[in-house]
Amino acid sequence: MKRKLRSGMSASLLAVAACIALHSPHSLAARDAQTILKETCQGCHTPEADNALSRISHQRKTPEGWLMSIARMQTMHGLQISDDDRRTLVKYLADTQGLAPSETDGVRYALERRLNTVEQFDDPTHQMCGRCHSGARVALQRRPAQEWERLVNFHLGQWPSLEYQALSRDRDWFDMARKEMVPLLAKRYPLDNPAWKKWQSAAPKAEALVGDWSFSGHLPGKGELAGVMTVSADGSDIFKVSVKGQYADGSPFNGDGSAILYTGYEWRGNVTIDGVTMRQVFAAQGNAMQGRMFEAEHDERGLDFVAAKQGSQRLLAVQPGYLKAGSESEVTLIGSGLTGKPDFGKGVEVLDVIEQSPERIKVKLKAAANAQPGVRAVTVGTLKGPSLSVYSKIASVKVVPEFSVARIGEGGGSTPKVQGRFDAEAWGKGADGKPYRIGVFPAQWKVEAFDDRAREDEDVKFAGTMQADTGVFTPGDAGPNPARKMSTNNAGNLKVIAAVDDAGKSLTGEGHMIVTVQRWNNPPIP
Ligand code: HEC
Ligand code: HEC
Repeated sequence: MKRKLRSGMSASLLAVAACIALHSPHSLAARDAQTILKETCQGCHTPEADNALSRISHQRKTPEGWLMSIARMQTMHGLQISDDDRRTLVKYLADTQGLAPSETDGVRYALERRLNTVEQFDDPTHQMCGRCHSGARVALQRRPAQEWERLVNFHLGQWPSLEYQALSRDRDWFDMARKEMVPLLAKRYPLDNPAWKKWQSAAPKAEALVGDWSFSGHLPGKGELAGVMTVSADGSDIFKVSVKGQYADGSPFNGDGSAILYTGYEWRGNVTIDGVTMRQVFAAQGNAMQGRMFEAEHDERGLDFVAAKQGSQRLLAVQPGYLKAGSESEVTLIGSGLTGKPDFGKGVEVLDVIEQSPERIKVKLKAAANAQPGVRAVTVGTLKGPSLSVYSKIASVKVVPEFSVARIGEGGGSTPKVQGRFDAEAWGKGADGKPYRIGVFPAQWKVEAFDDRAREDEDVKFAGTMQADTGVFTPGDAGPNPARKMSTNNAGNLKVIAAVDDAGKSLTGEGHMIVTVQRWNNPPIP
C-alpha cells in the first residue's frame, strides 16, 4: 500500500480515501499524537522551543485542512504514515490548532461540499489564488505573515509553470503574492485571534450533544423532510447516530451511523440512510446543529440540515413555507419545545390544530382572499425565526442553482457521473413592489441548447437527460462518442428551464448548466 501510494496512487484517490477516514471514528489511538509527531514528522520538521515543530506549530486549520496537508506530505514528500496514525494526528491538530466557529462563518460551503457555490472574494484574492482552487481554501486557514509567505514560496516552487498560466503571465505573480497578498492574508487571517482563545476556553463539552435532536431538511429534487436524530456517546468525541425521519411525501429517511467531533464543534458523521452512505458536515454547538448531509459517492445529492436539541426551545422550519391568498392548506412547524398556538400574522387564520407535540405542530391554515401578499414572521409563543409567504400570484420563477456544473462519468471508467439537481423557486411581488421569495414549487423541467454552438453540436441530445418532474439531470457517459463531431465526449452547454403552474398559467425560469468532464482531482476542500 505504501509503495503503491508513492508510485501510483493519485493525490485525488488518497484524498478520497482520507476523507472517508475523517468521517469514521477510529479505534482508540494506539499511539498518542506527540509520539507520532516526533517519530514521523520531526525527521523533516525542526524541533523548536515549547515542544513546537517548524511549520506545523504555526498554522491553524480545519480537520479537512490538516488532512490535506498531511496527505500532501505523503504524495509529494514521501511521508510514510499509517491511516490510524494520520487520523490521530488530524484529530489532535484540529483540536489544538483549529478554527473557532466564527472563523469558519461564511466559508463553510467548501467543507459542506456545495460545489456550485459562486464565490465572492474581492480582488486580488480572486485572481491571484481563486483561479486554481476555492477562495474558501485560503479563508479556512490562519497563519502569521511568515507562514503565508512560505506558502507562496511553496506554490511557486512546487508548480513553477503557474507563472505562465492565464492570470499570472499578465502580471508579476510572485512579486504581487509576496508584497500584496502576504500582508493582506496575515491581516485578514491571522494566527493569533481572540476568537480562537475564547473558543478553546469556552467550548461546550462534547457530552452536551448526547440526546434526541429534532431536525428539518430540504433535498432538491425530492422536497422537505423532518424527523429525530438520536445521538449517544461511543467514546471520547465519538458518537453513535440513529436517524428516524420522513419526507413530506411520506417516504422514509431512516438510518444509523457514527460521528466524530473535531475542534469541539466540527461534527463529521457517516450515516447509512436506507442503504446509502451519507456524510454529515455540521457545526454542532450547544443545542444547535446546522450544515449539510450528502451522499458519500455523490456529494451533489445533499440536503440542508438544521437541528435543535430536544429540551431546548427553538422553531426550525415551517413546511411548506407558503400559502395562497384565499386558500386553505396544511402546514407543519418543526422545532423543539414548541407549545401553544402558532401565529402566522395578519390575514392568516389557524382553522384547526391537527397534531401537536413539542417537536411538531401540524395545522390547517386559511389565508383570507384579501390577505396582503408578502412574508410573515411565524411565531410559537416567544419562538420565531422561520417565515410564511402569502401570495396571490407568482410573479417570477428562479432556477436554483442559477449556474451549475454537472459531469459526465462511468462509460467504462470508475468515476461516477455528477448530476445536476435543481429547485424551482417561485417569487412574488410585495405591496411595496419588491420581489419576495415564496418558496420551492413543483415544476416541469427541460434543457435546451445554451447558444448556437450548443445547438449545432446537438448538446441536448448527447449531454444527458433531464427528469421532467424532478429537475434531476443525469449526464451522459464519459469517453469519446463516435456519434459526435470529431468523436468528442458528451460535454454540453445547456439552459435549464423550469415551468411552474400557477392556477393554469405557466411561468418559466431559466438557469445555466455546463456539462463537463470528470473531476480528476477532488480534494476534501475544493
Ligand atoms: C519527508 C519530509 C517530510 C516529512 C516526513 C513531513 N513533512 Fe511536512 N513538509 C515537508 C516539506 C518539504 C514542506 C514544505 C512544502 C510543502 O508545504 O509541501 C512541508 C510542509 C508542511 C506543512 C506546511 C504546509 C503549508 O501549507 O504551509 C505542514 C502543516 C506539514 N508539513 C505537516 C507535516 C506533518 C503533520 C508531518 C508528519 C505527519 C509532516 N509534515 C512530515 C516535508 C515533510
Ligand atoms: C497554480 C494554481 C494555484 C494558485 C494560483 C494558488 N494555489 Fe494554493 N494550492 C494549489 C494546489 C495544487 C495546492 C495543493 C493541494 C493539495 O495539497 O492537494 C494548493 C494548496 C493551498 C493551500 C493549502 C495548503 C496546506 O497544506 O494547508 C492553501 C492555504 C493555498 N493553496 C492558498 C493559496 C493562496 C493564498 C494563493 C494565492 C496567493 C494560492 N493558493 C494560489 C494551487 C494553486
